[in-house]
Amino acid sequence: MGNRAKLKRYAELATFPNVYLQPQELRGQWHARCFGNEHPITLELGCGRGEYTRALALMQPQHNFIGVDIKGGRLWQAARSALDREQENVAFARFRIEFIPDVFAEQEIEEIWITFPDPFPKNSRGTRRLTAPHFIEKYRRILKPGGLVHLKTDSDLLFEFTLATVKQCAHSLHHAVTDLYKWPISDPRLTVQTRFEQQHLAEGRTIKYICFTP
Ligand SMILES: C[S@@+](CC[C@H](N)C(=O)[O-])C[C@H]1O[C@@H](n2cnc3c(N)ncnc32)[C@H](O)[C@@H]1O
Repeated sequence: MGNRAKLKRYAELATFPNVYLQPQELRGQWHARCFGNEHPITLELGCGRGEYTRALALMQPQHNFIGVDIKGGRLWQAARSALDREQENVAFARFRIEFIPDVFAEQEIEEIWITFPDPFPKNSRGTRRLTAPHFIEKYRRILKPGGLVHLKTDSDLLFEFTLATVKQCAHSLHHAVTDLYKWPISDPRLTVQTRFEQQHLAEGRTIKYICFTP
């Protein structure tokens, strides 16, 4: 896509009613100001084109969903698709996940999904990974007590790193599987497959899954 088309999309993004470019302004008020109801809010962190966020929202119409990403072009696709399908329980927010406590108040969020995040293999201490201890501590603050974090990944490195972090920090581990589709799946939300996931499966990779409460 050329620069002019990209600039047009960025300008349009600011006009979309389901996109928040200054999301910190809604901190503590997402239920009332974004959704106009008190339904539980689920986040997808690093939502890309929003495929997982939108699929979850169709499966759980009595829940609200916010997809978070820093890339405006991908959020444009996510938000446009949600608008075209009149998905009223879906919104998107553009910000760096590092700033998540500035965007959501304590206990404002019910659940967090992280699907196929970058494993940052060269980041030897793992501080950039979305399941690094400093990120999980931020998630703990915004989650309701007992709130779940779900991670789906094709990366052995990220799976092992996350499992070790969950154990070291004494978070409550609920599930950890190295081949999600090998066994019957009890939670249908786990069967959603984004374009990224389909590519990984086509290349013969297995999908790993971890679920824990910080
Ligand atoms: C590999 S993509 C996965 C997209 C989507 N979850 C899927 O499965 O199709 C990872 C996404 O996370 C976003 N991302 C990575 N680190 C981020 C950060 N610190 N803050 C906000 N977005 C981030 C990237 O922009 C990218 O869109």
